Amino acid sequence: MIKIVIAGLDGCLGSAFLGLSDLFALAHKAIIAAIPPSEAGSAADFCLVTASADGRPIRDGSGATLEVETSFEEIGVCDAVIVPSFAPGPDGKAPDMSAFAAAAAWLRRHHSRGALIGGCGSGVFLLGEAGLLEGRRCTTSWWHHEDLKKRYPRADTAWGARLIDDRRVVTAAGPLSWIDVGLHVIRTLCGQEAGRIAADFTLGETAPAKGAAKGAAYTPNVLSGGVDAFLAEAERIVRQSDAAFNAQDLARALSTSERTLHRKLKQACDESPKTFIDRIRVETARTLLETSAKPVKELAASAGFIDEASFRRAFRRYAGMAPSAYRVWAKAKSQDKAQMFSVRKDSEIIPEILTTILDTCVNGVTLADPDIEDAPIVYANKRFEDITGYQPEEIIGRNCRFLQGDDRDQESLRRLREAIKNRQPIEVTLRNYRKDGELFYNKLNITPLFDAQGKLIYFLGVQYDVSNQVRAETEIGDLKAKLQAIA
Ligand SMILES: Cc1cc2nc3c(=O)[nH]c(=O)nc-3n(C[C@H](O)[C@H](O)[C@H](O)COP(=O)(O)O)c2cc1C
Repeated sequence: MIKIVIAGLDGCLGSAFLGLSDLFALAHKAIIAAIPPSEAGSAADFCLVTASADGRPIRDGSGATLEVETSFEEIGVCDAVIVPSFAPGPDGKAPDMSAFAAAAAWLRRHHSRGALIGGCGSGVFLLGEAGLLEGRRCTTSWWHHEDLKKRYPRADTAWGARLIDDRRVVTAAGPLSWIDVGLHVIRTLCGQEAGRIAADFTLGETAPAKGAAKGAAYTPNVLSGGVDAFLAEAERIVRQSDAAFNAQDLARALSTSERTLHRKLKQACDESPKTFIDRIRVETARTLLETSAKPVKELAASAGFIDEASFRRAFRRYAGMAPSAYRVWAKAKSQDKAQMFSVRKDSEIIPEILTTILDTCVNGVTLADPDIEDAPIVYANKRFEDITGYQPEEIIGRNCRFLQGDDRDQESLRRLREAIKNRQPIEVTLRNYRKDGELFYNKLNITPLFDAQGKLIYFLGVQYDVSNQVRAETEIGDLKAKLQAIA
């Protein structure tokens, strides 16, 4: 009999601990019903045991008491141990694992005896504590990624993977990934057919089933056949693909010809296979831009783009702005201040009349957001675009210093820096460069804007092109110098 243990640990997610029991009970029933006893073999020959360090009930993250059947020591031999995710603490991080040293040692022992060890979400940290992640490819929830890397630097932590099985160490992303881990354990220990039946019955799987027929996770027959199911399947495959994946691969993964793929996508969403693949990747990137602080280059790779340049091109085509601008825009959307200004001038949250007034100004008007890293421009009026020659998507999301090009050794800049640091108003004239490279003199007036509580909310910048004036003054200066020389 295959023995699968759920490790009961104080502070774990109650839903994971109890849900795993339900999952295995449901799977057991479904497998017995689907496979005649004569053919079942070991497919349904498994049992589930819940255990805690001392065999006493545990308290989950919300304080509820959960009964267990036995203690870790009583378990003896087992085939798999699953560690549920922990409930997030006040700081959102995984708990300090030194409190679970005994459980970690117990996991290590079972792994060395041949058991499969699975960790869900922040439960993966216990596997790290047990030394099981050393030199192994692993994953966890995206918001724990950096922390896992920091705490267990010898782990080969993958970004964005849902489930990884590296030499009997199974790690999965997300607090609810216990479903994926549970199904993976059934598939590994009880066979592909048992895994398929369990996944079809519970409809729970979100991670790809590696090596499964058609490369698919278990898509129950009841859903397949229609165009929507085809689209959903195509989308799922693209989301799990790497940068080298192309239309030909998609057709192959869907067990269809390229022609049929073309026709079906055209019919369902009016897109070519290439456009379809790019769009799904841009959508993935959009989510990553909203939810992570990853540099654009890394993010492009995670979303499946071959390089940063092709990602930037595709993103601009679909989202209408640069990735960094999108990040700023998404952040502004979720902040109160966005009710006053947004980088999207066509957004309904900008008072239209205000935009109109600002657009008719003879001066450039910009707003920089000091709450965002490197204080990027979150609003620029039409005149600023005219003065600089840049399009909105090339302005929004960048610090205005890009107008200085390589001409960074300017006395006025030092004063400007100091004033911004001290949140004081200032007026300076800077040498700036238009998009076509032409020099212009920018008389820049900066005013910090505070809210009623005295909190700095924006820097307001007013730009005035004084090139003619500066040139005239320079000419007068030159003339005077010449006259003096003659005199
Ligand atoms: C609202 C605002 C508008 C700005 N506009 C310009 C500009 O038009 N041209 C420019 O060269 N610098 C401009 N700056 C200044 C740069 O953004 C930056 O503060 C300056 O280069 C000094 O910082 P640094 O040493 O980090 O570059 C602006 C700053 C703010 C806050």
